[in-house]
Amino acid sequence: SERTFIMIKPDGVTRGLVGDIISRFEKRGYKLVAIKSLVPSRQLAEQHYADLSTRPFFKGLVNYITSGKAPVVAMVWEGKDVIRQGRIMIGATNPLDAAPGTIRNTYSISIGRNIIHGSDSFDTAEQEIGLWFGKPGELASWEPANWNWIMAEN
Ligand code: GTP
Ligand code: MG
Repeated sequence: SERTFIMIKPDGVTRGLVGDIISRFEKRGYKLVAIKSLVPSRQLAEQHYADLSTRPFFKGLVNYITSGKAPVVAMVWEGKDVIRQGRIMIGATNPLDAAPGTIRNTYSISIGRNIIHGSDSFDTAEQEIGLWFGKPGELASWEPANWNWIMAEN
């Protein structure tokens, strides 16, 4: 089934939100297939946000992600409709527009410090997973023991 790239940004890590965010995806029934913590290089951050390179906030965005004041936590989550559901769980880009209960609404009030990233389409998910977890063996294929209690046959 489908996979998405989720990244807890340095503000989310510094503020101690890693456990809660992972819990939300776990408890929903999604499956963690890769995770690592790292300070991204400028090159990696610029590639990740390449679509935004002409925007006025681009440099600040790359500085924020790569500052090294805290790492990011990069993850791949798998399961039914996880790309779209991940975006719903995260909430609107501007936390002031994010629905109550979403991650961004619950934990943030600034578009420039909005805690978390999630892929926005199947194509970007594939691209971002390849960019952040490109080495062979980085993605695990496994089935939780309780899988039949999460997913019915159809
Ligand atoms: P991501 O999941 O991080 O990709 O966010 P998004 O898909 O909801 O929004 P988008 O891809 O358009 O923007 C990427 C990131 O750039 C956002 O999450 C913000 O951190 C930042 N960003 C977007 N718009 C603004 C802005 O107007 N000002 C500032 N300071 N940052 C912005
Ligand atoms: Mg985006």
